[in-house]
Amino acid sequence: MKIGVLTGGGDCPGLNPVIRAVVRASLKLGHETIGFRHGWKGVLENITMPLGREEVSGILHRGGTILGTSRTNVYKVENGEQQALETFEKNGLDALIPIGGEDTLGVAVKLAKAGVKLVGVPKTIDNDLMGTDFTFGFDTSVNVAMESIDRLHTTAESHSRVLVVEVMGRHAGWIAWYAGVAGGGDVILVPEHPFSVEDVCAQIQRRHDTGKNFSIVVVSEGAKVATEAATDEDGSYVLSSMKKDAFGHVMLGGVAKVLADEIEDRLGFETRHTVLGHIQRGGSPTAFDRVLGTRYGVRAAELVHEQRFGRMVALQGNKIVDIDINDISGAIKELDPDLYKVAEYFVD
Ligand code: F6P
Repeated sequence: MKIGVLTGGGDCPGLNPVIRAVVRASLKLGHETIGFRHGWKGVLENITMPLGREEVSGILHRGGTILGTSRTNVYKVENGEQQALETFEKNGLDALIPIGGEDTLGVAVKLAKAGVKLVGVPKTIDNDLMGTDFTFGFDTSVNVAMESIDRLHTTAESHSRVLVVEVMGRHAGWIAWYAGVAGGGDVILVPEHPFSVEDVCAQIQRRHDTGKNFSIVVVSEGAKVATEAATDEDGSYVLSSMKKDAFGHVMLGGVAKVLADEIEDRLGFETRHTVLGHIQRGGSPTAFDRVLGTRYGVRAAELVHEQRFGRMVALQGNKIVDIDINDISGAIKELDPDLYKVAEYFVD
């Protein structure tokens, strides 16, 4: 079989281990692989690259993706589906392995309905994809965020400051919670629980009343401010821009600055903010992400070999399983409420 491979959406440490594993396992199973450059853009424009043993040599430890990526949406382009099908035909493709998050795999779901034989590999540093306990890249970003919080800790203490750290996490607070708990954050704000500035200030004030001279606030970029009639699902984003990407998502960012200004104004404590941004997505994957990516890649190649299409590989417990790729659509895997409760014991 000839198998196409692509990576779409935001990049993420662990993509190269997946690509390497898909290629190495496919070759061993008697198949050929080619790469599409820049996600679905490469499919629409038929931009391919050879993807054999040589191309994947020495990439296990490298961050990013040797294939390149984009947020191109096949279904936002006129005749996009037709163009994609033509590209597959021209290249004599028998199967496709798209590696991506909800948007990239959302396109894959539609192409599968149009007859494309594919097996998806889940990817996002946000760890918010349904059907899988962990996505690769998440562990690396948590470690980067934790190390940054450790560094902010010492300078916050020296200067008696409040430091507000903004981490990634569009719809779910996995990164904020893990990095916040591992780094000893004093306030952790996640999209699943809209916050009020009054409550955040009261928590910081209580902590300082017990003699502490500094505080660390960890906030997800997608954390929302509670509106008057707020339930846990409601709330509004705090944004510095109204720009949207090809999938219609607003570009998040800005909550840390707004919150830091409010804390300083209301409490009078000197307050600074830090936005970790793409630092969390760059660099070498951790051992956990290299191993998870390798296991996903091998299983995806095996599923293609077994001609079990329309599936997505997933981690459940410590086992790699496969699920119907349609099951990922429409819902977000929110932060486990039991985890959230753990952090509440550390609130002053
Ligand atoms: O891929 C997920 C993610 O890292 C989100 O956490 C973040 O909101 C978004 O991507 C940033 O996207 P971009 O790299 O396009 O700015």
